[in-house]
Amino acid sequence: MAVDPELFKQGLRRWASGVTVVTTKSGDQPHGMTVSAFSSVSADPPLVLVCANRNSRTHGVIREGGRFTVNVLASDQQDVSAVFSSSKLEDSRFEHVAWRPGLGGVPLIDGALVNLECRVEHSHDHGSHTIYIGHVEVAHVTDKRPLLYYDGAYRDVG
Ligand SMILES: Cc1cc2nc3c(=O)[nH]c(=O)nc-3n(C[C@H](O)[C@H](O)[C@H](O)COP(=O)(O)O)c2cc1C
Repeated sequence: MAVDPELFKQGLRRWASGVTVVTTKSGDQPHGMTVSAFSSVSADPPLVLVCANRNSRTHGVIREGGRFTVNVLASDQQDVSAVFSSSKLEDSRFEHVAWRPGLGGVPLIDGALVNLECRVEHSHDHGSHTIYIGHVEVAHVTDKRPLLYYDGAYRDVG
Protein backbone atom coordinates (compact mmCIF):
# COMPACT_ATOMS: atom_id res chain seq x y z
CA MET A 1 0.00 0.00 0.00
CA ALA A 2 1.33 3.49 -0.87
CA VAL A 3 0.14 6.88 0.32
CA ASP A 4 -1.32 9.26 -2.24
CA PRO A 5 1.62 11.60 -3.15
CA GLU A 6 -0.57 14.72 -2.92
CA LEU A 7 -1.80 13.77 0.56
CA PHE A 8 1.80 13.08 1.60
CA LYS A 9 2.80 16.63 0.52
CA GLN A 10 -0.27 18.18 2.15
CA GLY A 11 0.47 16.37 5.39
CA LEU A 12 4.08 17.52 5.49
CA ARG A 13 3.11 21.15 4.74
CA ARG A 14 1.27 21.06 8.07
CA TRP A 15 4.52 20.35 9.93
CA ALA A 16 5.75 23.64 11.47
CA SER A 17 9.53 23.89 11.56
CA GLY A 18 12.36 26.29 12.08
CA VAL A 19 14.53 27.35 9.14
CA THR A 20 18.27 26.73 8.88
CA VAL A 21 20.99 27.42 6.37
CA VAL A 22 23.40 24.50 6.19
CA THR A 23 26.86 25.70 5.16
CA THR A 24 29.81 23.58 4.12
CA LYS A 25 33.14 23.80 2.31
CA SER A 26 35.33 21.68 0.10
CA GLY A 27 38.67 23.05 -1.12
CA ASP A 28 38.35 26.82 -1.49
CA GLN A 29 34.65 26.73 -2.25
CA PRO A 30 32.13 27.53 0.52
CA HIS A 31 28.55 26.52 -0.22
CA GLY A 32 25.22 26.42 1.56
CA MET A 33 21.48 26.01 1.19
CA THR A 34 18.27 26.56 3.11
CA VAL A 35 17.20 23.45 5.02
CA SER A 36 14.14 22.78 7.16
CA ALA A 37 14.82 19.03 7.49
CA PHE A 38 16.94 19.37 10.64
CA SER A 39 16.63 17.55 13.96
CA SER A 40 18.53 16.75 17.10
CA VAL A 41 19.50 13.05 17.33
CA SER A 42 21.32 12.59 20.63
CA ALA A 43 22.55 14.72 23.56
CA ASP A 44 25.44 12.41 24.55
CA PRO A 45 27.19 12.27 22.17
CA PRO A 46 25.86 15.57 20.73
CA LEU A 47 24.46 14.59 17.33
CA VAL A 48 22.14 16.34 14.87
CA LEU A 49 20.88 15.42 11.42
CA VAL A 50 20.06 17.26 8.20
CA CYS A 51 18.46 15.81 5.06
CA ALA A 52 19.93 17.02 1.75
CA ASN A 53 18.49 16.34 -1.67
CA ARG A 54 21.04 14.40 -3.69
CA ASN A 55 20.45 16.78 -6.60
CA SER A 56 21.60 19.75 -4.51
CA ARG A 57 25.13 21.07 -4.82
CA THR A 58 25.33 21.27 -1.04
CA HIS A 59 24.91 17.50 -0.82
CA GLY A 60 28.07 16.91 -2.87
CA VAL A 61 30.12 19.52 -1.02
CA ILE A 62 29.23 18.04 2.40
CA ARG A 63 30.20 14.60 1.09
CA GLU A 64 33.58 15.91 -0.14
CA GLY A 65 34.39 18.23 2.76
CA GLY A 66 33.16 16.07 5.65
CA ARG A 67 31.90 19.05 7.66
CA PHE A 68 28.78 21.22 7.86
CA THR A 69 27.41 23.99 10.04
CA VAL A 70 23.72 24.36 10.88
CA ASN A 71 22.87 28.09 11.06
CA VAL A 72 19.43 28.32 12.71
CA LEU A 73 17.86 31.51 11.32
CA ALA A 74 16.43 34.33 13.44
CA SER A 75 13.05 35.92 12.71
CA ASP A 76 14.68 38.85 10.85
CA GLN A 77 16.56 36.53 8.42
CA GLN A 78 13.81 35.63 5.95
CA ASP A 79 15.93 37.27 3.21
CA VAL A 80 18.84 34.94 4.12
CA SER A 81 16.56 31.93 3.65
CA ALA A 82 15.49 33.30 0.25
CA VAL A 83 19.10 33.83 -0.89
CA PHE A 84 20.16 30.32 0.13
CA SER A 85 17.23 28.63 -1.62
CA SER A 86 17.53 30.63 -4.87
CA SER A 87 19.06 28.74 -7.80
CA LYS A 88 19.70 32.09 -9.55
CA LEU A 89 22.03 33.16 -6.74
CA GLU A 90 23.71 29.75 -6.49
CA ASP A 91 27.21 31.11 -7.15
CA SER A 92 26.92 34.41 -5.26
CA ARG A 93 25.00 33.53 -2.09
CA PHE A 94 27.81 34.49 0.28
CA GLU A 95 28.06 37.98 -1.28
CA HIS A 96 24.56 38.73 0.08
CA VAL A 97 25.12 37.91 3.76
CA ALA A 98 27.65 38.72 6.48
CA TRP A 99 29.59 35.63 7.52
CA ARG A 100 32.83 34.55 9.11
CA PRO A 101 34.87 31.36 8.76
CA GLY A 102 34.49 28.72 11.46
CA LEU A 103 36.16 25.32 11.94
CA GLY A 104 37.67 24.09 8.66
CA GLY A 105 36.73 27.42 7.05
CA VAL A 106 33.03 26.45 6.95
CA PRO A 107 30.98 29.70 6.99
CA LEU A 108 29.12 30.83 10.11
CA ILE A 109 26.26 33.16 9.14
CA ASP A 110 26.27 36.33 11.25
CA GLY A 111 23.05 37.17 13.10
CA ALA A 112 21.85 33.54 13.24
CA LEU A 113 19.99 32.38 16.34
CA VAL A 114 22.37 29.41 16.70
CA ASN A 115 25.40 28.09 14.78
CA LEU A 116 26.23 24.40 15.27
CA GLU A 117 29.62 23.37 13.83
CA CYS A 118 29.57 19.67 12.92
CA ARG A 119 31.82 16.92 11.67
CA VAL A 120 30.03 14.31 9.53
CA GLU A 121 29.77 11.12 11.55
CA HIS A 122 27.47 9.06 9.30
CA SER A 123 25.54 9.44 6.08
CA HIS A 124 22.59 7.37 4.90
CA ASP A 125 21.13 7.55 1.39
CA HIS A 126 17.35 7.08 1.28
CA GLY A 127 15.16 7.86 -1.71
CA SER A 128 15.89 11.33 -3.08
CA HIS A 129 17.82 12.50 0.00
CA THR A 130 20.86 11.76 2.12
CA ILE A 131 20.64 11.98 5.91
CA TYR A 132 23.86 13.50 7.24
CA ILE A 133 24.45 12.91 10.95
CA GLY A 134 26.84 15.45 12.40
CA HIS A 135 28.79 15.42 15.65
CA VAL A 136 28.47 18.95 17.08
CA GLU A 137 31.93 20.27 18.00
CA VAL A 138 31.12 23.94 18.71
CA ALA A 139 27.81 25.74 19.42
CA HIS A 140 27.21 29.52 19.30
CA VAL A 141 23.88 30.39 20.94
CA THR A 142 21.96 33.70 21.13
CA ASP A 143 18.53 34.66 22.53
CA LYS A 144 16.77 36.01 19.43
CA ARG A 145 13.38 34.86 18.14
CA PRO A 146 13.39 32.02 15.56
CA LEU A 147 12.19 32.17 11.96
CA LEU A 148 9.43 29.60 11.40
CA TYR A 149 8.10 27.91 8.25
CA TYR A 150 4.58 26.51 8.04
CA ASP A 151 2.23 25.69 5.15
CA GLY A 152 4.61 27.12 2.54
CA ALA A 153 5.10 30.50 4.27
CA TYR A 154 7.48 32.13 6.75
CA ARG A 155 6.04 32.85 10.21
CA ASP A 156 7.12 34.52 13.42
CA VAL A 157 6.60 33.18 16.94
CA GLY A 158 3.34 34.56 18.35
C1 LIG B 1 12.00 26.81 3.64
C2 LIG B 1 12.83 25.89 2.76
C3 LIG B 1 13.27 24.68 3.28
C4 LIG B 1 14.06 23.81 2.51
N1 LIG B 1 14.47 22.64 3.07
C5 LIG B 1 15.27 21.79 2.36
C6 LIG B 1 15.76 20.60 2.97
O1 LIG B 1 15.47 20.29 4.13
N2 LIG B 1 16.58 19.79 2.21
C7 LIG B 1 16.90 20.10 0.91
O2 LIG B 1 17.64 19.32 0.27
N3 LIG B 1 16.45 21.24 0.32
C8 LIG B 1 15.65 22.09 1.01
N4 LIG B 1 15.20 23.26 0.44
C9 LIG B 1 15.54 23.54 -0.97
C10 LIG B 1 16.98 24.08 -1.17
O3 LIG B 1 17.25 25.16 -0.28
C11 LIG B 1 17.15 24.60 -2.62
O4 LIG B 1 16.82 23.55 -3.52
C12 LIG B 1 18.54 25.11 -2.92
O5 LIG B 1 18.49 25.90 -4.10
C13 LIG B 1 19.60 24.01 -3.13
O6 LIG B 1 20.83 24.66 -3.37
P1 LIG B 1 22.14 23.95 -3.93
O7 LIG B 1 21.72 23.07 -5.10
O8 LIG B 1 23.03 25.09 -4.36
O9 LIG B 1 22.73 23.16 -2.83
C14 LIG B 1 14.40 24.15 1.17
C15 LIG B 1 13.97 25.38 0.65
C16 LIG B 1 13.19 26.24 1.44
C17 LIG B 1 12.73 27.57 0.86
